[in-house]
Amino acid sequence: MSDPYYYETSKGHGLPHDPFNAIVGPRPIGWISSQDSAGNLNLAPYSFFNAFNYIPPIIGFSSIGRKDSLNNIEQTREFVWNLATLPLAEAMNQSCAAVAPDVDEFALSGLTAAPSRLIKPPRVAESPVSFECRMTQIIQLQTSEGQQVESWLVLGEVVAVHIARHLLVEGVYDTAAAQPILRGGGPADYFSIGPEALFKMHRPQ
Ligand SMILES: Cc1cc2nc3c(=O)[nH]c(=O)nc-3n(C[C@H](O)[C@H](O)[C@H](O)COP(=O)(O)O)c2cc1C
Repeated sequence: MSDPYYYETSKGHGLPHDPFNAIVGPRPIGWISSQDSAGNLNLAPYSFFNAFNYIPPIIGFSSIGRKDSLNNIEQTREFVWNLATLPLAEAMNQSCAAVAPDVDEFALSGLTAAPSRLIKPPRVAESPVSFECRMTQIIQLQTSEGQQVESWLVLGEVVAVHIARHLLVEGVYDTAAAQPILRGGGPADYFSIGPEALFKMHRPQ
C-alpha cells in the first residue's frame, strides 16, 4: 500500500460518508428485547454488537446515547438477544423507530412476544434463535484522554438459549440456514449470509 488515503479522526475523514461503519462490517445485529420496571416492552436493533466470551457466554451492544434499551436494562438487569434474519429484515427495521418509551415495538413491527423461561423480557417468537441474558456490566465509554462519552457498552451473560430445531442438522447449528442479516455501512447497506459465503480454514497445528 504505497499511497493510502489517510486521515486523523479528530480532523474529520474528508469523504462523502464516514467509512468506519463500512470497514468494520458487516456486523451482526443485536436485536434486543427488554422491559422497564413497569413492564413496558421494548425491542430495538443494535449493530455495535458482538460476543465477548465463551464460558460463560457473554454478549454486548453499545448504546450510542441514552436509549430505552439501556434505561430498561439498568432498571431490570435482563434482556433478550434475538437473531435478525432475512425474512424478518423489514420487521427489524421497523423496530428501530424512535418512539416513546411506553410504545411497544413488538406491536409496531407486527411481531409476537413469546415468554422467556428464566427472565421477564419476552423473546421475538418469529426469530429462530434467542438468548435470554442477565446484565453483567454497563460500561460508559471514554476517549483516550479519559473524557466520558455519551455511549454505554451493555454486557450480559447468556443464561438460556432457544434454537429452532430445523437449524440443528444432526445436532450441529447451521449458521447459513438461519439466513442471518448483517449491517454494512452507509444509510442502508445490509448483507445476508448463505451457504456460498462459507469457507473452511483450520488453525495451524
Ligand atoms: C440495523 C440497525 C443497527 C443499529 N445499531 C445501533 C447501535 O449499535 N447503537 C445505537 O445506539 N443505535 C443503533 N441503531 C439505532 C437504534 O435501533 C434506534 O436508536 C432505536 O430507536 C433505539 O431503540 P430504544 O430506544 O428502544 O432502545 C441501529 C438501528 C438499526 C436499524
